[in-house]
Amino acid sequence: MDNKIRSAVFPVAGRGTRFLPATKASPKEMLPIVDKPLIQYAVEEAIDAGATKLIFVTGSSKRAIEDHFDADPELEQALRKSGKDELLKSIQDIVPDGVSCIYIRQGEPLGLGHAVLCARVAVGDEPFFVHLADDLIAGDPPCLTQMADEYARHGGSVIAVETVPKEETSSYGIVAVDDSNRITEIVEKPAPAKAPSNSAVVGRYLLAPEIFDKLETTGRGAGGEIQLTDAIADLLHESPVYAYSFSGERFDCGSKLGYLKATIAYGLDHDEIGEALREHLRELLRD
Ligand code: G1P
Repeated sequence: MDNKIRSAVFPVAGRGTRFLPATKASPKEMLPIVDKPLIQYAVEEAIDAGATKLIFVTGSSKRAIEDHFDADPELEQALRKSGKDELLKSIQDIVPDGVSCIYIRQGEPLGLGHAVLCARVAVGDEPFFVHLADDLIAGDPPCLTQMADEYARHGGSVIAVETVPKEETSSYGIVAVDDSNRITEIVEKPAPAKAPSNSAVVGRYLLAPEIFDKLETTGRGAGGEIQLTDAIADLLHESPVYAYSFSGERFDCGSKLGYLKATIAYGLDHDEIGEALREHLRELLRD
């Protein structure tokens, strides 16, 4: 069996209201962590895991994402002329040869499940990744690669999970598992008293293509939206879905605090500015 996952779906139609006014005219996925936009980290993670077809499910005001992953001959020429070879390389290597980008408009903001369903025509009848760029994960190997390895061991579908404080269950999909980590129950954003555990879905999924048929009939769920979680709840009765506790650190870049934590962590780790930032933080925090 060829275990390679070729397609990665990036639902990027959301308006990012939590970051207004920064996201009024510019997509939240283009917010930078040091010197790369969130969506580039997402794409790099998917490519590392073997994806060659990048499927962006977009909405209005998301043109900057398409521009970012397209060639820019004028800028390349200017950098070449001024001898800025490293910068030139950094913009030429964003999408390597052999990797293609596909853009699909979601049309109506009907929820994550609907966004994934919009990608059906581009994914076809194969397992695929779903990556939510808000959840930035520093992992070695990267989280999707860990999940692809897990999939190679037992097939089925694989969903990344992380333990969260009980009072936060209403912000996540929450799972219950059996002894072999097979998901027995999944609920979207339950109140703490109703949550089957405090094991939360984070924004990385490796899904069997059967999920699409489930999504076709998934009605509106939590928040009046068509939820991916509800389709997974339907799928797990017929086909195994495993919870996977990844190794690495997740930053919730959909929140201001999470975004700043990521900026600091990636900044401290950055070759060019890491040392200076460490020194600055030390001084800043000195009484
Ligand atoms: C989505 C999913 C949720 C998951 C979360 C991870 O929610 O619906 O199940 O736990 O992503 O980030 P959102 O954060 O888009 O509301």
